[in-house]
Amino acid sequence: MLKPPSERTRHLGKLDHAHIWHPFTQMNQWIEDVPVIIERGEGPYIFDCDGNRYIDGVSSLWCNVHGHRVPRIDQAIRQQLDRIAHTTLLGLSSPPAVEFAAMLAGCAPGGLNRVFYSDSGATALEVGFKMAVGYWYHRGQPSKHQFIGLAGAYHGDTAAAMSVGYSDLFHLPFRPMLFPVRWMPSPDPVRLPDPVRDAYRRASCERCGRNAGEPCAASTFPSRCPLLAERITEYVLAELRALLEKHSKDTAAIVLEPLMQGAAGMIGQPPVLLRGIARLAREFDVLVMADEVATGFGRTGTLFACEQEYEAGDGPDILCLAKGISGGYLPLAATLCTDEVEGAFRGRIEDRRTLFHGHTYTGNPLACAAAIASLELFNTNRLLEHIQESARRIGHAMTRLESCPHVLDVRQKGIMAGIEIGRRDDAPEAFDFTRQVAREMCMAMRSRGLMLRPLGNVLVLMPIPAMAHDLLDQMLDIIVETIETWKM
Ligand SMILES: Cc1ncc(COP(=O)(O)O)c(C=O)c1O
Repeated sequence: MLKPPSERTRHLGKLDHAHIWHPFTQMNQWIEDVPVIIERGEGPYIFDCDGNRYIDGVSSLWCNVHGHRVPRIDQAIRQQLDRIAHTTLLGLSSPPAVEFAAMLAGCAPGGLNRVFYSDSGATALEVGFKMAVGYWYHRGQPSKHQFIGLAGAYHGDTAAAMSVGYSDLFHLPFRPMLFPVRWMPSPDPVRLPDPVRDAYRRASCERCGRNAGEPCAASTFPSRCPLLAERITEYVLAELRALLEKHSKDTAAIVLEPLMQGAAGMIGQPPVLLRGIARLAREFDVLVMADEVATGFGRTGTLFACEQEYEAGDGPDILCLAKGISGGYLPLAATLCTDEVEGAFRGRIEDRRTLFHGHTYTGNPLACAAAIASLELFNTNRLLEHIQESARRIGHAMTRLESCPHVLDVRQKGIMAGIEIGRRDDAPEAFDFTRQVAREMCMAMRSRGLMLRPLGNVLVLMPIPAMAHDLLDQMLDIIVETIETWKM
């Protein structure tokens, strides 16, 4: 049972209601309740002002990696604070920024040697867009300045990031501010385009023994059906080929979140899709820009998601990182690119090739010191091995939901997972965002000491990567029990 809000919490709550405009929040709904005000953290837990303890099931918005108040990261920040809190990378450099850039280049997939710092996921994307467009411009192909995105993507809330991550729900009023983008269809296994649905219905499957027209015999969840994954892959790649045949001459880059689109509602990509996209990009001479703001730093089971599906030498040309980069401690982002991309911006001053782009807190030394400590902890704690086992446990818990009639689909890559609530009977139905069932479930879980945040009607599981396995099991039990016993 949670302790009720104290006088102090109520006072802070009033001030909050009076002055803070919360991100991604309908403020009318927000001011209905006294807010939970988080005062401190310890390992995988966060504590509110009244001492209530919650499991941090969203990793403090997908960025915490090793837990809260990690001695080694705390110490790295304190030591840096004794030297200097901030200095600029415009015309100067700093040891933590240099050392971390070298570490990143050392562990990033193939050839991503150059690091451009900024301070959030969206700014990492902005830098990447300019790298891509500038690369072609300086190589004498200025017409290549457009982008192909993956429908449903979310890349942040700056204007270019909104353009390449457009959704009516989030961005309709701002549409006039945005530039046009061409789209590959979404690989969403729940909202299938007609050609995929038809091709799937007509096919039988040797793997599960299903005959044409029947449901998959291997799993009730569409995302677990290999045949459906194949059909989706074929369809997306065919559509992408058609786009490139027509538009590669004006396309700078294909932009995508590799393996898992996070804010789209945890939409996974069939394993071979990423490889197919990379091959088409090479064939048609466009760059690939991978947004690993959410998937980076272990979330999908490897340090970077794109390690899993790209063949050697076939990785992205530009890689955007943020969130977990500093262990979830301080705002930091990095856009990595190949020497070839950066080389296009080299020249004499009068050649006007300089990338005139930067942010005041670019490469902040405190954040870089935290990032170095965080990256070192991956090795010290053998974190990627730990994550593999966590992923297995999450997969097992998801399977327990097979018999739940109001779970439409479960989707998982590593320790990123989404459980889509909807109707799964004769006429499967995805709920629209106004049906806030997942939100109500999250509220119920909160009273059991678990903090989750849904995306529409998708329950999002983003446990802290270093979370101990027994605590992860507790978290999974709360989630599964809440869903199983939910009265629709
Ligand atoms: C894939 C992806 N890209 C970009 C962003 C934007 O990051 P930020 O909120 O740090 O600007 C997000 C945020 O959720 C994201 O999930």
